[in-house]
Amino acid sequence: MLQTNPIGLFDSGVGGTSIWKEIHALLPFENTLYLADSTNAPYGNKSAEEIIALSIKNTEFLLNKNCKMIVVACNTATTNAITVLRDKYDVPFIGIEPAIKPAAIQTKTKSIGILATKGTLSSALFHKTAGEITKDISVVEIVGEGLVPLIENGQLHTTALTELLFKYTKPMIDASIDHLVLGCSHYPYLIPKLLTILPDNVTIIDSGAAVARQTKAILEKNGLINASIKKPKLAFLSNSNKATLKMLLAEYHPDITISEMSF
Ligand code: DGL
Repeated sequence: MLQTNPIGLFDSGVGGTSIWKEIHALLPFENTLYLADSTNAPYGNKSAEEIIALSIKNTEFLLNKNCKMIVVACNTATTNAITVLRDKYDVPFIGIEPAIKPAAIQTKTKSIGILATKGTLSSALFHKTAGEITKDISVVEIVGEGLVPLIENGQLHTTALTELLFKYTKPMIDASIDHLVLGCSHYPYLIPKLLTILPDNVTIIDSGAAVARQTKAILEKNGLINASIKKPKLAFLSNSNKATLKMLLAEYHPDITISEMSF
């Protein structure tokens, strides 16, 4: 495998760009290829079998493009499919899971909130991890139903989105949480709005920076860091309307390419 080959990333849509941003900031010379499977978003309400099938399809697409590593930039796909992917393919996989551990360690009120998709919260992997870590604290788990479609449509500043966030955070605020774990790679785009809704003592935790550090560590371990300091190729492919990708990646234009194609 060549060090210059791209890191492949996939998500059910645009959300994993929040992870890509962290990876690109930490590894600015890596070539990257991001797959936004927006046609099939949201993954969160699909069965584990469907999520596994879509994750295999996305992985094979990226491997056919010679990706040296795959970042599953989606909590729902990670918690439902990463074990299958690791068994099936011989490249390193990085996954993303809700960062419950730092929240559970740091909480003073002994109460934390998790906002994630139905697919993540009902997955066996999530239950195994969460069960071990949260024995002594109370956890308010809320399914963010409807949030991903709004984000996919670029509706970050709509009343509909604000109303959903008020609805989903109310039981958490009532339970005096002091940490809110974002368990979906789309949700970091909600942070500006969440900060206006949550009490000041609530810390929001997302996993993007940790995933980037893990990506770097695994590349180093496998001797796959790109030694070149040439301008990297940063490609984004969407199988749906690319307008939201363009909006969320505006600060990176014109150094990136965003294309639409079916896959
Ligand atoms: N962005 C994804 C996640 O991290 C999936 C959201 C969805 O498609 O439901 O869970």
